[in-house]
Amino acid sequence: MTNGVDASPSLRCPALHFTPPQGWMNDPNGLVYFAGEYHLCYQYYPDDRVWGPMHWGHAVSSDLVHWQHRPVALAPDAQGMCFSGSAIVDWHDNSGLFGGEPGLLAFYTVHRETAGNPDDYVQEQCLAYSRDSGRSWQKYPGNPILPNPGLRDFRDPKVVWHAPSRRWVMALACGQVIRFYLSDDLLDWRLASEFGDGQGAHTEGPWECPDLFELPVEGAAEGEPATRWVLVVGVGAGEQDDFGSFTQYFVGHFDGERFHNENPADGVLMMDEGRDFYAVQTWSDVPDSDGRRLAIAWLNNWLYANRIPEAGWRGTMSFPRELSLEETGEGIRLRQAFAAELGAAGRLSPWLMANSADALTVGNNVLIEQGPSAGHGWLSLQMAPGTILELDLQQAGHMLLRITHDGSTLQLEHWREGRNGDPDFDRRFPHHLTRQLMAGTEIELEWLVDRGSLELLVDGGRYASTHLGVTDPCLQPVVVRLVAGSARLTDGRYHGVIDPLE
Ligand code: FRU
Repeated sequence: MTNGVDASPSLRCPALHFTPPQGWMNDPNGLVYFAGEYHLCYQYYPDDRVWGPMHWGHAVSSDLVHWQHRPVALAPDAQGMCFSGSAIVDWHDNSGLFGGEPGLLAFYTVHRETAGNPDDYVQEQCLAYSRDSGRSWQKYPGNPILPNPGLRDFRDPKVVWHAPSRRWVMALACGQVIRFYLSDDLLDWRLASEFGDGQGAHTEGPWECPDLFELPVEGAAEGEPATRWVLVVGVGAGEQDDFGSFTQYFVGHFDGERFHNENPADGVLMMDEGRDFYAVQTWSDVPDSDGRRLAIAWLNNWLYANRIPEAGWRGTMSFPRELSLEETGEGIRLRQAFAAELGAAGRLSPWLMANSADALTVGNNVLIEQGPSAGHGWLSLQMAPGTILELDLQQAGHMLLRITHDGSTLQLEHWREGRNGDPDFDRRFPHHLTRQLMAGTEIELEWLVDRGSLELLVDGGRYASTHLGVTDPCLQPVVVRLVAGSARLTDGRYHGVIDPLE
C-alpha cells in the first residue's frame, strides 16, 4: 500500500485495505473505471482526524489492491462542502463539455451551513468535470445543476445510464426515500418518481448513498426475466439506535422512470450482517468484456466512527467485492465475492494435509492457523447438526466468531471487544451479535483478516459479515477450530500476506 504515514506500532496501516494518506475518511465517492484505471474518491478531511469540511480525496489503481494517492479532486468553496456522489464516463459528450471526446463527470452534493449552525443547512447537486482522465477536476460554472426543492436532506447523487430509454438517471437520497431524476444532457434534470415510503428499513436517520444497477440472475427460472435491478440504500443511524448505520438493498425492476420492489415491502435485505459496511458504492464503466459489478464500502459505523483509534489517519475501505444475483428458495438475492485480484487462498490447511478427509472431532480441532500478518482463508465443510466452529481473531483486536449448525439453520454469533477509554466508544463499540441464517449443511466460509478488520463471507457469499476491530499491537494468528460436534473438512486453504511494513 502507499500509505506513507508514520503510524504508531499498534495502528499500522492495513496491508490490503485502502486508507487515506492522513486525516479523516468516510464514504467512497466517484467510483469510475477509465483508461485502465479504477478511480476511488472518498469523503476526506485532510486537516484533522475527525469529520470536518468535506473534500473528495482521490486515488487510482490498476488492480484494486495497490492504490496511488492523487491530489484532492474537489475542495470546499463558498458554495459549500463537497458531499458524496458518483462519477461516470461521458463517452459521447452528451454534456458538451469535452469537445466531442469522452470525459469524466463527477456528481456531488454541496452542503452549505446557513447561519453558522451545523443543523441548519442547504444541500444541492453539482457537477465537476475532468478532461485529463481524472488528473484534474473543474467545477462546472452553472452549478448547482439541481437546486434544492425545499428538502432538508437532499444528497448523494448516483448517476447511471439506462440503455432501453437512452437516458441518464440520477438516484438521490431525499429524507427517507430515493428520488429518480432523468436527463438527456447530464446538465438538466427532471423528477420522475420516488421510492421508499413503507419499503424496507427506516430508522431515525436519513437514507443515504443510493446505488442502482442491473445484474443477470443466475439460475433464473424459465420464462422469468433474465436480469433484475438492485437499489442499494444506506440507512443512517439514529442516536438512540444500538446497531447504527447499515446498508440495505432492494431487488426488482426499473423501467427507466420507476423502481418496483419485487419482494414484500416490509422485508429488509441486509447487504452485510455486520456493523461496519456502510455507504456502499459500485464502479461505473467497468468494461463489458470484464462484466463485473464491483462494490466497495466504508468500514465503519456512524455510531462511533469519530472515536475509533487513529494514527494520523482514520478510516478504512473494504476490500472490493464482486456482486451477482442468484435465485434462492426465498427470492432473488445478492451474492458477494472478494474481487479476484485478492488472489486465491492457496496453502492447504495443515490439518487437511495431515488427516486427509477424515471426520473432524473435538480435540483434534485446529483446522487452520494462519500466520500473524494479513491474510485470506477459505474452507468448505460438511457440518453435522450441533457442530460449533469458531474463528478466533486476536489480530483485529479480540474478535470471536462462532457458527452453530442446528441442521437447518446456521447461527452466526459475533463478539467484539475493544475499548479506548472514551465512554461513548466503550459503550457502543463492543458487541455480541446473533444472526439466524438459512443454510444447508455444506458450509463455505471465506475470510479476509487485516489489521483492524474482518470481512467474512458465509455460504459462498450469500451472507457477509464485516467488522472493524481495535488492532492488537502484538499480532496473533487467526485460528479456526471445532469446539463441538463433528464435521468433515472437504477443503481448507489460506494465504498469508507479507506486510510491506513488517
Ligand atoms: C454518509 C454521508 C452522506 C454524506 C456524507 C457526508 O455516510 O452522511 O450522506 O454525503 O456522509 O460526509
